[in-house]
Amino acid sequence: MHQLIYFSRNTMSGDLLKGLKEILGVSQRNNQRDGVTGSLIFDKVWFLQILEGNLEIIQATYKRIEKDSRHREATVMTVRPLIQRQFPDWGMGGLLRSPDVQEIFLSHGIGGEMDPRKLHAATVVDLALDLKAFDQRKRSDICKAS
Ligand SMILES: Cc1cc2nc3c(=O)[nH]c(=O)nc-3n(C[C@H](O)[C@H](O)[C@H](O)COP(=O)(O)O)c2cc1C
Repeated sequence: MHQLIYFSRNTMSGDLLKGLKEILGVSQRNNQRDGVTGSLIFDKVWFLQILEGNLEIIQATYKRIEKDSRHREATVMTVRPLIQRQFPDWGMGGLLRSPDVQEIFLSHGIGGEMDPRKLHAATVVDLALDLKAFDQRKRSDICKAS
């Protein structure tokens, strides 16, 4: 089991939410087939992605992703062995930087514009885990309210 973390610069314009949803749709289908899990943080300028699974499979997945014209400058931050998955239930969870999560970004030292070139891989994982927990709390609140 390995984890690969990279960042890249978005090249999409127009409806970015729609663009993100399209990426996530294909990713979830392929990753489920390939036993890959992880998360994708998007702040409209940068992508931060965590891929977990068999080393050869995540490397092949990354090679495919790297060539995608919806982003450029894909840069691997780390490839490390993992005892267990950190996002076991997520084929590929999308985490958008929206106003309601600015505090979570701030708690990881990201106040204004994010510069992934200055981030540690461990910060990316901690940020993604916090955003995921927030997302799941929000979803359960919506369920409780309806
Ligand atoms: C930022 C970003 C993240 C992506 N993440 C994944 C991913 O986790 N898994 C995946 O299969 N494709 C991912 N893709 C899409 C791939 O680049 C590619 O379009 C897709 O794997 C092709 O799948 P297909 O051959 O089934 O059409 C991502 C693309 C972008 C731009």
